[in-house]
Amino acid sequence: MKRSMETPPCSQDVKEEIVEAWYMNDSEKEDYRLPRHCEPKEFVSLEKLQELGVLTWSVHGDDYENEEDVKQIRESEGYSHSVNIHPERMPNFELMVKRFFLEHLHPHPEISYCIQGTGYHDVRDENDRWIRIAVKEGVMILLPAGIYHRFTLDTNNYLKAVLFSACPPAEFSTYEGPCEDLPARKLYVEAFHKAMRR
Ligand code: LAC
Ligand code: NI
Repeated sequence: MKRSMETPPCSQDVKEEIVEAWYMNDSEKEDYRLPRHCEPKEFVSLEKLQELGVLTWSVHGDDYENEEDVKQIRESEGYSHSVNIHPERMPNFELMVKRFFLEHLHPHPEISYCIQGTGYHDVRDENDRWIRIAVKEGVMILLPAGIYHRFTLDTNNYLKAVLFSACPPAEFSTYEGPCEDLPARKLYVEAFHKAMRR
């Protein structure tokens, strides 16, 4: 991870403490709610996430609705709805959690703001390796259209979030991978993976 002792603290470093990301091990024996670090740990920088089109912000929690970043996203996207992923507050909790963890993509960006709790967004890098991004209260994350991803709670088993989208929640489509022929996937590969290789 690019976190040098020589560089003075800047906003990027502050964000990096709030959002951590790392390459996951592929041990299927380990529970997916555990961090699943590689040995030794292999952290991923926010710059690397940006190259993949994944953006993260930290937003102050108390009055997040009035934070400029949130207001802008709300205005540009148009729709928002909240989810409460909690064993007693989400109907069909275990089923839903399993479904979130199936690899998929959307033809729209997936933007969420974590109000409470913690969880992991996993995204595939340009070589199909899984990167795990830990989110917690105050973190906003944008997954670009066309990136393969999945979500899981961690062992705290609770996350409350608001999702923002440019289409009504009922029209927000999900394609379970692989879907290389989907226009949104092709556009994503063109915009991000090919740009990396140039
Ligand atoms: C979703 C998350 C789980 O699409 O990625 O709802
Ligand atoms: Ni998704």
